[in-house]
Amino acid sequence: MTAPPLPVLIDCDPGIDDAVMLMMALAAPGLDVRSVTAVAGNVPLRLTSRNARMICELMGRSDVPVYAGCPRPMLREPVTAEDFHGETGISGLDVFEPDRPLAPAHGVADLIARLRAAAPGSLTLIITGPMTNLACALVMDPGIAAGVREVVIMGGADVAGGNITPQAEFNIFADPHAAAIVFDSGLPVTVLSLDVTHQVRAEPARIARLRSLGTQNALRMAGLLGAANQLEGRWRPGMNAPMHDPSTIAWLLAPEIFQSKAARVRTITRPGKSFGRTAVREAKSGPHRWVTHADADAFFALIEGLMQDTP
Ligand code: BDR
Ligand code: CA
Repeated sequence: MTAPPLPVLIDCDPGIDDAVMLMMALAAPGLDVRSVTAVAGNVPLRLTSRNARMICELMGRSDVPVYAGCPRPMLREPVTAEDFHGETGISGLDVFEPDRPLAPAHGVADLIARLRAAAPGSLTLIITGPMTNLACALVMDPGIAAGVREVVIMGGADVAGGNITPQAEFNIFADPHAAAIVFDSGLPVTVLSLDVTHQVRAEPARIARLRSLGTQNALRMAGLLGAANQLEGRWRPGMNAPMHDPSTIAWLLAPEIFQSKAARVRTITRPGKSFGRTAVREAKSGPHRWVTHADADAFFALIEGLMQDTP
């Protein structure tokens, strides 16, 4: 008997790699995507929420409702990342206005409503942007934690060092106060940080294999990864783009291709050169799981498997 698909809520800021993550999630028979919430991050909310709807439509999944969440971080001034994603947030894809409008509620209200209605420990949250939406939801209604099975995030860095400052990774730096609320909540959070995403890169041979699948969406994904490489190369000559956000989906679908350790993670919110850094301490009792290694070839084989049956 095959297990029923895992019910998940996705919170993101598309973003090229968020778009690839969404394509994987929407193609995966093992995942039941109940809703997508967008947050301000790589580009402003108006664009992240449009980009999320575009991907749902291209994947033939306009049935998945997309909600707009928080338009800015909790406390700090907004930061964006057009340098790595383009002005539209989704360089490599022609933008259009999707048919299905935004769902008529705030993203934070959607998170609260779905977690409140969920059976205890049943919903998995995937977060690939600043954690503003979940932090707001936890402040407004701490009881929602009971509905959570696992929170899987892309964010933070330990041994790899930062990507927006020498110590901080973008998603945490863009809203460290929200990250602190989530990490300090006691929720079981699995962290796919730069330590692991820098091990899996969109090498040209891997993109070529994806393109050779020939489906429209495999071609689109190859286009996105090609654009990500061009932008990455502009700032870090000779480097291919790391597979940041897609690592959350790979973790859920194929945890055996990763290595991880139980840990306790704190976020540095004190102003100064460590602002936005994640401090990681190994801790048998968790409540966090810090992913340390990935098998990059198995990661791309998983993506190819997902994309070969897409429209
Ligand atoms: C993270 O920052 C964003 O630019 C990417 O979408 C990813 O979520 C990597 O640091
Ligand atoms: Ca992202």
